[in-house]
Amino acid sequence: MNRKTDTPVTVIGLGLMGRALAAAFLKAGHPTTVWNRTTSKADQLVAEGARLAPTVGDALKAGSLTIICVTDYPAMHELLGASESELDGMMLINLTSGDSAQAREAAQWAEQRGAHYLDGAIMAIPSGIGTAEAVILHSGPQPYFEAHKSTLDALGTVTYLGADHGLASLYDVAGLAMMWSVLNAWLQGTALLRTAGVDAATYAPFAQQIAAGVAEWLPGYAEQIDSGSFPAEVSALETDARAITHLIEESEAVGVNTELPKLIKAMVDRSIAAGHGGEQYPVLIEEFSKPRND
Ligand SMILES: NC(=O)c1ccc[n+]([C@@H]2O[C@H](COP(=O)([O-])OP(=O)(O)OC[C@H]3O[C@@H](n4cnc5c(N)ncnc54)[C@H](OP(=O)(O)O)[C@@H]3O)[C@@H](O)[C@H]2O)c1
Repeated sequence: MNRKTDTPVTVIGLGLMGRALAAAFLKAGHPTTVWNRTTSKADQLVAEGARLAPTVGDALKAGSLTIICVTDYPAMHELLGASESELDGMMLINLTSGDSAQAREAAQWAEQRGAHYLDGAIMAIPSGIGTAEAVILHSGPQPYFEAHKSTLDALGTVTYLGADHGLASLYDVAGLAMMWSVLNAWLQGTALLRTAGVDAATYAPFAQQIAAGVAEWLPGYAEQIDSGSFPAEVSALETDARAITHLIEESEAVGVNTELPKLIKAMVDRSIAAGHGGEQYPVLIEEFSKPRND
């Protein structure tokens, strides 16, 4: 798709991530205005062609859209709150990390002041910004996203999730759950294998293969969750429970930590006690979907 590169943009917040966002817009040819509480962080960007706005209000008025990327939502409210009379008619895209309630509340706050607001989440590190590997999620009114997608494309792979402003934050934390679960499982296996003199680098390619194989199961398992029916096509939860016991016993025998497998076993046991032993593993969604109540 042809990108329009003459659209003026503003980036507010020039920490590690904000500087990468502004640099990507500049590199793509967008007239770029920047603002940061500590003005010296704009020096390099100004040298590359950015314009440093003297105030937040001036920064907001400079571009067709303003990207905000600061530490957290309280920081965003603090800096925008001082210029709230300038928000009417402005297009704001808030790429600051936070939770879904903060995103929805910020959307309401901005809309009450006449701003057009999208919330977003950056699933990338600063050095990835401007490349296809940088996935940037957006949620809020779709017309706002469509109107600015060709500009946002300068930042990476930009995705629209839905009208609920909280979705980008929810996908963001769901991604964290996936990331840490994969890493924790790998660390557990690595700890086990190191007791037999196998180093982490030797096990890593096997672990990669297992993780990729398990990832293949997700679409089929998702169908079970969405239909609420969990026939044991591969194995029953009772079979998995025996394998988890085996993992716990092996870990105990070689003296490595058992907290993680015991946590999983406790959830599986509760599900079996609730009558799901003959069903397939994704039936555990029922345990994951409620607060622990024992
Ligand atoms: N870095 C990453 O790898 C990464 C990845 C994904 C998402 N993110 C998210 O991107 C956001 C920014 O991260 P970062 O790495 O750029 O953080 P950072 O380097 O610590 O920068 C924080 C930015 O927030 C500004 N700020 C903080 N409190 C403020 C306040 N009260 N008023 C005005 N400005 C304030 C800082 O201004 P000063 O310069 O004046 O202190 C600075 O521009 C965070 O929400 C982070 O979770 C970061």
